[in-house]
Amino acid sequence: MPTRAWFSTLIYSEPLQARGLACLNDDLAEECGRIRENDAVGRRWSAKNYRGGFTSYASMAQLHRTSSTFAALEKRLRVHVHRFARLLDLEMRGRNVFMTDCWVNIMPGGVAHALHLHPLAFVSGAYYVRTPPGCAGLKFEDPRLDRFMAAPPKRPDARPANRQFVTYPAEAGQVILFESWLRHEVAANPTEPERMSISFNYNWT
Ligand code: NI
Repeated sequence: MPTRAWFSTLIYSEPLQARGLACLNDDLAEECGRIRENDAVGRRWSAKNYRGGFTSYASMAQLHRTSSTFAALEKRLRVHVHRFARLLDLEMRGRNVFMTDCWVNIMPGGVAHALHLHPLAFVSGAYYVRTPPGCAGLKFEDPRLDRFMAAPPKRPDARPANRQFVTYPAEAGQVILFESWLRHEVAANPTEPERMSISFNYNWT
């Protein structure tokens, strides 16, 4: 057998749809703003756990069940999740894929989201609604990082598959998908205008 890469980690990045993104994002942005206004529990939780920003992660995390705008978004996201599952060669025949959680994240300047993964799901992702120029991207970490105990550091010009971190820029209208165990973070957002995104999890039966 030849020398080649094995055990790959895929990160999926595609526009949600070919047309109508600006209109959809206007609707979503308005609704995200309304959710922040109405979700006092989420605002209190965010004040402690998402300092300076707002997330409905701990209060309204099933927006696809309560909002027709988010339900429509879910229908479109599901198509991408199926594509991603095909790229991963997951056997999905006879299996049902469904969104379990869907929540809003609003990050003004200086707000960060520390390294984490998404438990109780197999595919997770982000959809970008508002991304001011220069706003923080989504940084992923090589899942084997803690095993490189004795390896020399990587060269600065290491090939993409051999790098230990990658940052996907946040771009409005873009869907990012990853396997839920893959750790990721958002560095402190450097832009004063708010960065607005929707995070979600999918599971299967
Ligand atoms: Ni996340």
